[in-house]
Amino acid sequence: MTMNSIIKSTGSYLPERILTNAELEKMVDTTDEWITQRSGIKQRHIARDDESTGDMAIKAALDALATSGLSPDDIDGVIVATTTPDRTFPSVAVKVQGELGIKPGLAFDVQAVCTGFVYALTVADNFIKCGQAKNILVIGAEKMSSLVDWTDRTTCVLFADGAGAVVLSAQENNEGLAGQGIHSTHLYANGAQREMLQTTGGVSTTGDNGVIEMQGREVFKYAVSYMADVVGEVLERNNITSADIDWLVPHQANIRIIEGTAKKLDMGMEQVVVTVDHHGNTSAASIPLALDEAVKSGKIMRGQMLLIEAMGGGLTWGAALVRF
Ligand code: UT7
Repeated sequence: MTMNSIIKSTGSYLPERILTNAELEKMVDTTDEWITQRSGIKQRHIARDDESTGDMAIKAALDALATSGLSPDDIDGVIVATTTPDRTFPSVAVKVQGELGIKPGLAFDVQAVCTGFVYALTVADNFIKCGQAKNILVIGAEKMSSLVDWTDRTTCVLFADGAGAVVLSAQENNEGLAGQGIHSTHLYANGAQREMLQTTGGVSTTGDNGVIEMQGREVFKYAVSYMADVVGEVLERNNITSADIDWLVPHQANIRIIEGTAKKLDMGMEQVVVTVDHHGNTSAASIPLALDEAVKSGKIMRGQMLLIEAMGGGLTWGAALVRF
């Protein structure tokens, strides 16, 4: 018998304001056709000036808690994946903990950019598996619009805002892979590639946040190959084939990267959760947002096997095999 971390519930929050490709055409030298063909994005949500990453994280967390059957008193940890915190310190996680009235316990942020949610999920899973926590709120929340140079057409058409959350809970498992929960996690980074996708500044260098700069074509190339490698590793490690996977839940950066991974897995696009068209790239929030949308719409059902994967700045990448 082993202890598993199960996804007890999911939640999300998207800012009200929708920014369309047509509006972007008026802001920079771009076209709806270019954005759609190259990235698959049609529209994205952008937070208000007075709406922070923490505000969005709190709403997503409340949404996930509401259907978990748990109260804030039951939560013994909060982990937030974010690259766009409200303040340099304290963490977004302590804001969520404080505002939700969660009792003292572990609370911290994880920063692995677009792979952040997979990193946070892995950290939470390990806390639960080693018996240090029973119920952890794992959140991915980003206000990427605050890091975008709105005059740079190569990046401003891609990134967006939002938050997603899951409640991860301990549950005994006697059924191996047939049991509910996280079965394996796989994390990577290659720091030699850190300049391919970065901000132009930071706290201890320029003293400001900087803006996003990306070698898009290079990042694209590595995204396709790292995703293919890591999903292959998930299958091999668990001794399964892609026929055992019900849903691919990928990071939503570019429809062409997602299609490439599905093809590698020999999975049809009807088995892939796609939100990039209406969410854009929300970095660490993209996977929990996609997961929540697919759960609420009835696509993802209890007992189904999910393959989650992401890739982003660092370069970082990772994956998780989860029976929902
Ligand atoms: O989430 C973290 C991980 N990030 C990613 O996974 C992003 C990976 N990269 C990508 O998704 C793609 O590389 C992009 C969507 C960013 C770009 O697509 P691409 O097919 O790689 O285009 P490109 O960068 O090779 O640019 C092609 C052309 C260039 O013009 P020239 O040099 O061929 O004359 C760009 O200047 O498109 C031009 N271009 C644009 N044109 C219209 C770049 N941005 C735009 C734009 N509108 N917004």
